[in-house]
Amino acid sequence: MPQHLVSVSDLSKPEIIRMIDLAKKLKDERKRGVYKDYMKNKSLAMIFELPSTRTRVSFEVAMADMGGHALYLGWNDLQLGRGETIADTAKVLSRYVSAIMARVRKHDTVVELAKNSDVPVINGLSNLEHPCQILADLLTIDEVKGLDIKLAWVGDGNNVCNSMILASAILGFEMSVATPRGFEPDGRILKLAEEIGEKPEITNDPIKAVENADVIYTDVWASMGQEEERGERLKVFAEFQVNRALVGKAKDDVIVMHCLPAHRGEEITDEVIDGKHSVIFDQAENRLHAQKAILLRLIG
Ligand code: CP
Ligand code: NVA
Repeated sequence: MPQHLVSVSDLSKPEIIRMIDLAKKLKDERKRGVYKDYMKNKSLAMIFELPSTRTRVSFEVAMADMGGHALYLGWNDLQLGRGETIADTAKVLSRYVSAIMARVRKHDTVVELAKNSDVPVINGLSNLEHPCQILADLLTIDEVKGLDIKLAWVGDGNNVCNSMILASAILGFEMSVATPRGFEPDGRILKLAEEIGEKPEITNDPIKAVENADVIYTDVWASMGQEEERGERLKVFAEFQVNRALVGKAKDDVIVMHCLPAHRGEEITDEVIDGKHSVIFDQAENRLHAQKAILLRLIG
């Protein structure tokens, strides 16, 4: 059975720490212009049912930097779009490539791929989780603050939030989640977090969540696939904007994170994204380094 990365909960604390350390080493090598062919003769199939800038480009460049090859496969360019099953697609791709990365609408799709694949499957975002994002975020947090922190999630209890909750349970850092009523994180994730370690504090009060926080994290109010709810969500989430006033309620040296893409002026203001607390573009860069570590761990 290949090792997959479908959920953050597929990883143990030592594995996460090892990946962060490896990502730091790879980042340092790249900064020094050192490139090694860790992925020579390896190929990565990248299936996209939804659009992407960071995930697509960082995986593609990661494979190229390490002497390997990545294939961009749009859902509708594959026979998947004409009804070939996910299981058959996984079995066939396994005969050609070293790993499959997939961004999918429904989490079950990436689970089904993993069940039928003879090579590692990496979740490049589903409606339930975004584990690759979280590894890059942990690298970013570790670089600036270490991992003994309080993280405040403000906004929608979505896929990125779910994966961060699992990371906080595995690594044992404090997390507080503030969402509007009815937009709390998935109950299955909270239950899983409790089985692993501690589940986060859940509140509907953003000011309470950011109190004493080292990290404030937000994300869009309407994720991919929720576009038709956007108008309604704009109203419900209005009090959950990460702006200068809210950042002022956290620790003085708080860092602000966002996985991007952002809707500037909605969940986060320009002055915060572009301000002195923001590590948002370092986070985006770290997708590249963290994913190299994921690839090396799974197929290196
Ligand atoms: N953060 C993230 O996954 O960005 P993309 O949707 O651009 O890949
Ligand atoms: N929650 C967002 C994350 C995008 C990277 C979405 O699913 O659209």
